[in-house]
Amino acid sequence: MSQHRLPQSVVPSRYEIELAPDLSAFVFQGKETVEVTVREPVQEIVLNATELQLHSVTIRNETGERLVGRITLDEEAERARLHFPETLAPGPWVLEIAFTGLLNDKLHGFYRSTYTLPPSEQAAAEAAGSTAGVLAATQFEATDARRAFPCWDEPACKAVFDVTLVVDEPLAAISNTRVVAERTIPGTGKKAVRFAPTIRMSTYLLAFVVGRLAATDPVEADGVSIRVWAVPGKGRLARFALEAAAFSLHFFHEYYAVPYPGDKLDLIAIPDFAFGAMENLGAITFRETALLADEGTATHAELTRIAHVVIHEIAHMWFGDLVTMAWWNGLWLNEAFATFMEVMAVDAWKPAWGRWEAFGASRAAAFLTDGLHTSRPVEFPVAAPKDAEAMFDVLTYEKGGAVLRMLEQYLGPEVFRDGVRRYLIRHQYANAETTDLWRALGEASRQAIPEVMEGWIFRPGYPLVTVSTADDGRTLCFSQRRFTYLPDGGEAGDIWRIPITYRARAKGAVRDGRLMLASAEARVPCKEPVEWVVVNAGGHGFYRVQYAGDLWRRLVRNPGEILAPIERFNVLSDAWAVTLAGLLPVGEYLDATAAFGGETDRTVWSALLAPFTYLSRLIEPACRPGFEALVRDRLAAIVARLGWSPAVGEDERTRQLRGEILRVQGTLGNDPATQETARARYARQRAGSEAVDSNVAAALVAICAHAGSEADYESFVAAFKGAATPQEEQRYLKALADFRDPALVGRTLAFALSGEVRTQDAPFLMRETLMGVHSREQAWLFVKEHWEAMERLFPSLTGLRRMCEGVTGLATPELEADVRRFFAERKISLGGKTLEQYLEQLRIAVAFREREAAGLASYLSRRSGASCC
Ligand code: BES
Ligand code: ZN
Repeated sequence: MSQHRLPQSVVPSRYEIELAPDLSAFVFQGKETVEVTVREPVQEIVLNATELQLHSVTIRNETGERLVGRITLDEEAERARLHFPETLAPGPWVLEIAFTGLLNDKLHGFYRSTYTLPPSEQAAAEAAGSTAGVLAATQFEATDARRAFPCWDEPACKAVFDVTLVVDEPLAAISNTRVVAERTIPGTGKKAVRFAPTIRMSTYLLAFVVGRLAATDPVEADGVSIRVWAVPGKGRLARFALEAAAFSLHFFHEYYAVPYPGDKLDLIAIPDFAFGAMENLGAITFRETALLADEGTATHAELTRIAHVVIHEIAHMWFGDLVTMAWWNGLWLNEAFATFMEVMAVDAWKPAWGRWEAFGASRAAAFLTDGLHTSRPVEFPVAAPKDAEAMFDVLTYEKGGAVLRMLEQYLGPEVFRDGVRRYLIRHQYANAETTDLWRALGEASRQAIPEVMEGWIFRPGYPLVTVSTADDGRTLCFSQRRFTYLPDGGEAGDIWRIPITYRARAKGAVRDGRLMLASAEARVPCKEPVEWVVVNAGGHGFYRVQYAGDLWRRLVRNPGEILAPIERFNVLSDAWAVTLAGLLPVGEYLDATAAFGGETDRTVWSALLAPFTYLSRLIEPACRPGFEALVRDRLAAIVARLGWSPAVGEDERTRQLRGEILRVQGTLGNDPATQETARARYARQRAGSEAVDSNVAAALVAICAHAGSEADYESFVAAFKGAATPQEEQRYLKALADFRDPALVGRTLAFALSGEVRTQDAPFLMRETLMGVHSREQAWLFVKEHWEAMERLFPSLTGLRRMCEGVTGLATPELEADVRRFFAERKISLGGKTLEQYLEQLRIAVAFREREAAGLASYLSRRSGASCC
């Protein structure tokens, strides 16, 4: 048993917890009564606690025996040891602990969050000495319930929780279940709010929120009452999330064929929040941008984000909350599944949004990390809490989700769903391992699931499938090997069981084919010579494809005619990956992109645009004009086609595409005319004389920043501070990283740590400045100088991890060397393999730069007809 696991000699079954937070002194008082089972004679009980003071401990049993315990705290291990004067006999006991703790500002455990009050309440608050509101909220996953109350803080130690919150009379108090009793405590100005007992569940899912919060009217779905809570004045931004929630609650009830496991559902927007959202059973917490929006001014991307987050967390109410992984190594069972279900439900809600196609882009993000030598398997041994936190990454979410999608498509959606139902029924109120999921899916499908899935879940990496035609022209040859961006290390014998789908055209007829590639190579004879073939037809496979010989050119000759959007996305994304890996000359890749000028699908465009952003960080300064001209050239047709305003009846994806295209034209393309128009439109829109589509409006902000002056900067800071919605606030904040003047870059860096930017946002702002071509050198100097301050300020390792992702953009040999030196000298770890992965990504970028610089320069000068560099 690992040193990080609690002994199982004593286990809890029910906690009665009473907490009294003090929102002005930032402390809380607590007491708990825990029903435990002593399984073997012990004189000592070990449980988790950290940053808590334990004042008294007693234990009693049914025979009337009562012992007073002595407490020792081991802060390093985040544990409390309770020693008793006599041995506790096996059987039921009741433990009573009194404790106090801090409402910290680190966005974990039981913590405080602050916000500015609406004008109507400011006068009263000022009289009381502040204009800020304070609320208290919790974030316990992965291992921070132990900061709020002493507990067995492991996912397998499920118990019933009976919670009472003692709070100031006018405040709202929310927990996982309905309020069953509320009583005033005479003479104190306080009330005790008692909640119904929860289902048997893990500690990390418990939630307490206390503050001046307002709820919307409830919406009913399948008999469950759903409300949105927010700080005063923001309730008007809740409609969209409520709709998504009501739809998905019903959808999941049907899909899982198990009722919703809670007795109500509150969705709560917390102004300071470390992650996007957290699936506390019945009391889901969110950062404001992930829950609240004004549908009239939010972009399509911002609204789809909310739909995904809300629905993801609701998917967890079953997958995660009702059935929970036994330990953090199985986190993917929670997160990959919620990701998969999230896309399925959003797609069912809004089929026109094409979310499975958009998921192609998420899969590509997983391909990026999983193409590193420093990748890891989806399921991976986890010991320390710090490493549990590092499991929340693209491999767990996006690779795990993509692999589930591949399996679902392979088994068939109904069979897959039946397996999921079996799994939930069998393990409800309890815990499960990956093998339990395999067993349930195996029973439903009568297939040997472990054999198929082993390579995808328990091994790092993924295959590159190469397809070629044999000399006879009528035999398709498939081969596989591990794909990595940097050479070497791909262990020979790395073989996956790949459910391959393909579509080929021969003698004018198009035919679908399937095969299970379970060895290094396979040959498929065709009757006629093959004209073209697309592998990973339908686009769900978690592998990349390389087309040998002429097959690639034949495919991209007229992609719009023979390929579905998701296939076009994959073809482009795979080709770019193969280019980065040095298997396709960059010029050839760039030439092929010319065939996509008529593209109108926004997902495919995201594959076309991403490499330009990447290249922009690598090209030599002298090449930039040629590069910008290339970008403008590739965008010319679509820019002309879309214009600045939506056509009547235009769909949301096209509106989103317009925003994205204009933004790139005005920034990477550095197009003066676009910048000019953007400035004029932005001014008219701010003056209220012109209505602008929200997607374009967001692009205007980015373009104006890219071309912006000091006066623009001032007005953006003001707009950030006075923003009417969480989305608008973020838009202006993010834009501060886009100003190019070094003095303004310096101001943004200082601003990030000034206290005016929430610590939940500052790491992202820092990351943007590290990734910006014009800001990165200054940003890196700043990071080195202020590292200690950021360590202190940011919410735990997560903040540093987010910021440090930005070092992947420091793609010059000099900066790379300096980055490596810095992290090595300071012996920094970001948990798991995170830092190693960032450094490898940086290596890939610099290696690409060194390898392709000359080729790129000559390609660009050939195009522009001048020698640019
Ligand atoms: N369980 C997570 C929240 C979480 C993340 C807790 C990391 C501890 C560490 C939640 O279900 C989640 O996945 N949230 C995502 C958003 C989601 C839509 C992918 C997040 O917070 O980014
Ligand atoms: Zn999740």
